[in-house]
Amino acid sequence: MVNKATKPTDTLIGHDAWNIQLDKNGQLKHFLTTEGLGSDILIQILDTAENFALVNEKSIKKVPLLRGKTIVNLFFEASTRTRTTFELAAKRLSADVLNININTSSASKGETLLDMLQNIQAMHCDMFVVRHSDSGAAHYIANNVAANISVINAGDGSHAHPTQAMLDMLTIRRNKGDNFGNLRVAIVGDVLHSRVARSQIHALNTLNTGDVRVIAPRSLLPTGIENMGVNVFTDLEAGIKDADAIIMLRLQKERMQGAFLPSEQEYFQLYGLTEERLQSAKSDAIVMHPGPINRGVEIDSTVADGPHSVILDQVSNGIAVRMAIMTMTLGREPEADTSQNSTSATKTGART
Ligand code: CP
Repeated sequence: MVNKATKPTDTLIGHDAWNIQLDKNGQLKHFLTTEGLGSDILIQILDTAENFALVNEKSIKKVPLLRGKTIVNLFFEASTRTRTTFELAAKRLSADVLNININTSSASKGETLLDMLQNIQAMHCDMFVVRHSDSGAAHYIANNVAANISVINAGDGSHAHPTQAMLDMLTIRRNKGDNFGNLRVAIVGDVLHSRVARSQIHALNTLNTGDVRVIAPRSLLPTGIENMGVNVFTDLEAGIKDADAIIMLRLQKERMQGAFLPSEQEYFQLYGLTEERLQSAKSDAIVMHPGPINRGVEIDSTVADGPHSVILDQVSNGIAVRMAIMTMTLGREPEADTSQNSTSATKTGART
């Protein structure tokens, strides 16, 4: 079984000075990864999202919390769910939203990322939402933007997709209650290339989930995955046995260089989730997938569209989670000034 000592349970972990995600008051400034954030922050995101889920069920789905703020979507990589739910979340909070079309931007004329960012921040923006194919891109941008700008990672390479992980935690909590310690969660598929899986594993362990499992062929498991606080299986039915939640991952073909699998058909035969295999899980298990799904590769249509599936609920929950993260980062209290030689601007509470 997993060594629980490797699990980050100390809520102070997220307040370490190295964590650029938090301001001097320990409030969320950027949201770049679930790694290193304490359970206090993750639970605050979930609780805040619950309030916004109520807004999203009303006939008028708009609140004025971010009126006057400008949010810029910078998607250097394809997206349907993440980009549109970020845009909807910002609009429902009454922010102004700018979607930069990278293909028709001056990036196509050779402008560097930093020059592009400096020009956009000269337009007095408050937040960049960034998706990029390079791992570390969101951290790089957060380290190079003006101090008053918040950066949200909408997926960077195979590193992290923290808002996806948090909408997944909200989906689990809404279906299974808030005691994650009672739960067995199984993550199935291409863990090696999955930023979603990494962010989910950190979040599940921080929330003290009883049993976090990963299930995949060895060729799709990162070396040392056991050290992330998960139990590892290569047999699907054994891995999902008595699971409360099963998270299916997409085969990330765009990140595969070389032969990781004999064929998609063989993968489906061994790792595809069918109604028959689902019988191994608990009778009330939920089936999740971050999307986009490959029907007949990772999951059978009868399961994807069946009674256990909460795949479309995940998309709805994504709006509420992104509203929560936007308000927490942009609506922070002014930072406490801990330096001895503070300027008058910081003394009077202006955001740095
Ligand atoms: N889950 C997810 O990130 O989907 P998109 O690539 O469509 O945004």
